[in-house]
Amino acid sequence: MVEGEIENVRKKYKGVVSELEGEVKRWEREGGRLEGEVERMKRELDRERETVVSLRSTLTDQANAHITLSTQNNILQSQITSLQSSLQTDSTTLSTLSLSLTRATARIKDLENEAREAESVRRKLHNMVQELKGNIRVFCRVRPVLGLEAGEEAEIRYPDWRDRREIVVESTSESAMGQERKEVYNFGFDRVFEPSSTQEEVFEEISQLAQSCTDGYNVCIFAYGQTGSGKSFTMEGGGVRLSLSSLSRGRTDADYALQTAGMIPRAVQQVFRVTDELKSKGWEYKMEGQFLEIYNETINDLLGKHEFDKKKHEIKHDPKTLRTSITDTQSHALTSPSQVTSLLLLAQSRRSVAATLMNERSSRSHSVFMLRISGRNEVSGERCEGSLNLVDLAGSERLVGSGVAGDKERLRETQSINKSLSALGDVIGALGEKGDKGDKHHIPYRNSKLTYLLQNSLSGNSKTLMVLNLSPLAAHLNESLTSLRFATKVNNTTIGTAKKGRLTS
Ligand SMILES: Nc1ncnc2c1ncn2[C@@H]1O[C@H](COP(=O)(O)OP(=O)(O)OP(=O)(O)O)[C@@H](O)[C@H]1O
Ligand SMILES: [Mg+2]
Repeated sequence: MVEGEIENVRKKYKGVVSELEGEVKRWEREGGRLEGEVERMKRELDRERETVVSLRSTLTDQANAHITLSTQNNILQSQITSLQSSLQTDSTTLSTLSLSLTRATARIKDLENEAREAESVRRKLHNMVQELKGNIRVFCRVRPVLGLEAGEEAEIRYPDWRDRREIVVESTSESAMGQERKEVYNFGFDRVFEPSSTQEEVFEEISQLAQSCTDGYNVCIFAYGQTGSGKSFTMEGGGVRLSLSSLSRGRTDADYALQTAGMIPRAVQQVFRVTDELKSKGWEYKMEGQFLEIYNETINDLLGKHEFDKKKHEIKHDPKTLRTSITDTQSHALTSPSQVTSLLLLAQSRRSVAATLMNERSSRSHSVFMLRISGRNEVSGERCEGSLNLVDLAGSERLVGSGVAGDKERLRETQSINKSLSALGDVIGALGEKGDKGDKHHIPYRNSKLTYLLQNSLSGNSKTLMVLNLSPLAAHLNESLTSLRFATKVNNTTIGTAKKGRLTS
């Protein structure tokens, strides 16, 4: 029994023991797992430590960077502040400036207005001076350099850009000692036209004068200058000769002819326009034209039927009406401006037929286009007679050299030209000296056909304009200076104030 009990107890404890042993094994396993866990945690801890260390260093770096940035920030802030303050200053300056700009603009406007007013006063005074000076005006026109002449220009300057009344010519010569000597010559005229001036610009200055023939004045415009200086271009135009040979070539030539139309066609056109306008005021006008040539002191009718240099034509002046007539010449009733172009062409062709082989007749003779205008006003009973004479003078060059002496015909031409041009100078000079002696003073009109024909245009009852044409070339400088001196003499001449030829019936 005890044994059984012991057995039972043994069995019981054996179970407890094995239970405890199982428990111990479980705890051992748990211990192992926990040890592993501890191991892993340790490793993790190490890693975390490393992270902390690296983070700390990053933090230090960042802190440093922050310090740098904030320093920079401070600097930038202060820069911004200073920029803002200078901006402020600038904007103040700007508003001050814009204020003064506004003021300056207003001042400029005022000054411009003042200048405009001064200009109109100046013009009025200029006109008054012209009136006082009398009725002879002188313009000077320098033609452009033509194609092949490039590089051969003389030294010519136009310093007076505002009034355009001065021309300065410079010449360089060598002294006996071989030194270069420069001479400067100044001339002043009523208007100087540079080579770039157009026919339109020249006419603009002439139009008032040309138009005054419709008010009953005798107007005379003549072109003076050496051969090739542009007299015929100025008076007739650039397209007359051109259209003679190539009328059918088309628009370009026609455009050129129109653009370069000279003073004769433009003046005639203007006279037609003005007389047309005056119709509404009761005026009726009649116009007739003549085109004459003076060659070797002989008058020829450029529009007539006679052979040149054969028929003797005489000049007659009517002292009452101041009308000039020439015997046996044809007057053409002018009814339209286009008619004038065909008359110019007719004169050209007749002249070229008569031209000698030696030289061009047109440059060795004077041509005079005469337009007579008579008007009557049925309403007021007024009448008026005026004339417009446009003269293309023969080449004014002094002819030198043995070639001339050997050629009798040429010598005669030269003598005639010199005679008539110097007679023109004398007449103008005498008119200038007239002074108190009035009309009683002797004016040598009869010394040449030209001055005799132009008598009425050069006397006190007329308005006269001389256009001095100049070549721009250095080779022509001496001739240009001679022309400039002649024109200056003309310019200093006073011809009494013009009187209208208007008569009351
Ligand atoms: N203002 C100008 N513009 C362009 N060409 C011009 C001008 N003036 C003159 N010419 C040209 O110069 C040349 C000479 O001119 P023009 O025949 O008119 O001279 P001129 O003084 O009449 O000479 P001449 O005494 O020999 O008759 C021509 O070929 C002409 O077309
Ligand atoms: Mg000519």
